[in-house]
Amino acid sequence: MVGPCFVSFFFLVNLLSFSQTLDASHCSIKGFPLVKNISELPQGNYGRGGLSHMTVAGSLLHGLKEVEVWLQTFAPGSHTPIHRHSCEEVFVVLKGSGTLYLASSSYKYPGKPEEHFIFSNSTFHIPVNDVHQVWNTNEHEDLQMLAIISRPPVKVFIYEDWFMPHTAAKLKFPYYWDEQCLQETQKDEL
Ligand SMILES: *[C@@H]1O[C@H](CO)[C@@H](O)[C@H](O)[C@H]1NC(C)=O
Ligand SMILES: *[C@@H]1O[C@H](CO)[C@@H](O)[C@H](O)[C@H]1NC(C)=O
Repeated sequence: MVGPCFVSFFFLVNLLSFSQTLDASHCSIKGFPLVKNISELPQGNYGRGGLSHMTVAGSLLHGLKEVEVWLQTFAPGSHTPIHRHSCEEVFVVLKGSGTLYLASSSYKYPGKPEEHFIFSNSTFHIPVNDVHQVWNTNEHEDLQMLAIISRPPVKVFIYEDWFMPHTAAKLKFPYYWDEQCLQETQKDEL
């Protein structure tokens, strides 16, 4: 009589850990070990061709309050939107090369940006609210970067071009990769 009882107990435990794994692949750290294998973390393109984004450590995903870390890969020719956010951002280029376009936010609109060559093992930071765009301008290689932002989740203002007034830039919040998890967090709180 002990046998079947054990069987169903282990079946139940397996079922529970299975559903935790499912949760973990979306909006929760539950079920992931403390030390995670980056090759096994979920990534996606969030409707943006040529992009692969992974939230390595995040606010909505992992409950971080002060910082968030992304791993992003841009195929040749792909790029971020022209945008700004009121948080600090640090980049470390892991692979490839490209161009950083950077304009200050001190005038009414960004204006013609400065162009900076970025390359493997280079690093740069974006001052709070400065309008910027990162572009994989290398036809032959993916551009892979770690991005670290403060004050997550990020609130991004998007520009159609460099001459759009700051006041006309469109708020995108939650940002693409935060959309699903923000909804689930709010559901949890209800
Ligand atoms: C990390 O994950 C990748 C892909 O699943 C695997 O090939 C690699 O062996 C893993 N590394 C470790 C140390 O387990
Ligand atoms: C990046 O720079 C550091 C410091 O010089 C060096 O130790 C490391 O090997 C470099 N990495 C690559 C991929 O070039």
